[in-house]
Amino acid sequence: MSPAPGLVLGIETSCDDTAAAVVGPGGAIRSSVVSSQVDLHAVYGGVVPELAGRAHLELLVPVVAAALEGAGLPPGPGAGAALDAVAATVGPGLIGSLLVGVSAAKALALSWEVPFVGVNHLEGHLFASLLDHPGQAWPVAVLLVSGGHTLLVSMEGPGRYRLLGQTLDDAAGEAFDKVARFLGLGYPGGPAIERAATAGDPEAFAFPRAMLDAGLDFSFSGLKTAVVHAVRAHPDATDEDVAASFQQAAVDVLVAKTVRGAQAAGARGICLAGGVAANSCLRAAVAAACEELDIPAYVPGRAMCTDNAAMIAAAGRWQLEHVGPTPLDEGADPALRLPLLG
Ligand code: KG4
Ligand code: ZN
Repeated sequence: MSPAPGLVLGIETSCDDTAAAVVGPGGAIRSSVVSSQVDLHAVYGGVVPELAGRAHLELLVPVVAAALEGAGLPPGPGAGAALDAVAATVGPGLIGSLLVGVSAAKALALSWEVPFVGVNHLEGHLFASLLDHPGQAWPVAVLLVSGGHTLLVSMEGPGRYRLLGQTLDDAAGEAFDKVARFLGLGYPGGPAIERAATAGDPEAFAFPRAMLDAGLDFSFSGLKTAVVHAVRAHPDATDEDVAASFQQAAVDVLVAKTVRGAQAAGARGICLAGGVAANSCLRAAVAAACEELDIPAYVPGRAMCTDNAAMIAAAGRWQLEHVGPTPLDEGADPALRLPLLG
C-alpha cells in the first residue's frame, strides 16, 4: 500500500473511442476527453479492428494533450511533474487498439519517471458507476451492460467483486446493435433503437423475456431471432414499434434479474454501468425498481456509462494505492476477465 496518489492520467483505447482523462483525489475529474471513431466505422456497420487501431495512433497524442491542457497541466515534460501515475486499459478489448494505449502510457510513464498502472476495462466501468456517488454503503449490485459484456456483480468495495450472473450468449449492447442493423437503423445501434423506440408502442410485439425466472444469467440471442421472425411475419410493422417492443423486452429482463440479484446479495444500492446504461428506458426502470425496494439507485451520467478514460484513471488511482504499480513488461490481454472473489 502506497500513500494516496494525487493526479493520475488515464488512457482508454480498448475499442473505438480514443480517450484520456486526469483524475485527482476523491475521484475529482480534472479533465475527460473522448474522441469517438463512430463516423469512421459507421459505413461498415460496426467496428473494423484494423481501422480502429490506426485511428487510435493518429488521435491519441492530441487527445492526451487536450486532457493535460483541460486539467491545467503544461504539455510535455512539465506534466510529468504534476502526475503521480499513468494508467491505461490493458484489456479486455481489441489487441491492436489496446496496444496503442498501453505502449503510449508506458512510454509516458518512463519518460516522466512515474509508475504505470494497467487497468481492467470492466473494473473501470464499475468505478465509473460510482464516481458520481462516493460514500455509498456496500455491497452494491452493479449491472454492467456494454457492447461486449453483460455482467451482474455484487461489489463489496473497490476490488471486491462477486459474480451474480452473466450472459450466456450475446451481450446486451450486441443485441441492440444487431437488431438496429437488421432494421437498417444505423450504427451504433443502442442510441438508434432508443431514438426509434420513443415513437413506438412497447406492447406492439410480445417478444420473449428469456430465462426470466431461471437464475441470474441472461440470454439475448433468442430475442434477436424473435425480432427477425416478427419483422418477416409482419412486413408492415413499423421500425418504431419493433424497436420499442425489443427495448422493453431487453429492459424487463435486465431489471428483473438485477432486482433479484440485489436482493440475493443483500445489496444496499443498485448501480448501472456500461454503454447500454445510457438507455433512458433502462435508467427509468432501474430508478423505479429502486424506489420500490427503498434503496438508492446510482445511475451515472451518460458520459460515464459509455467508454471514457476518467473511469480508467479512477480505477488506476485506487489500484496504485492498494495494489501497486504494474511492471512494464506486463502486456495487454484482449481476453482479460474481471477479477472475482473466490
Ligand atoms: O461501454 P461501451 O461504450 O463500449 C464497450 O465497452 O462495449 O458500450 C457500447 C454499447 C454499444 O453496444 C451501444 O449500442 C450501446 O453500448 N449503447 C446503448 C445506448 N448507448 C450506447 N444501448 C442502448 N441504448 C443507448 N442509449
Ligand atoms: Zn466499455
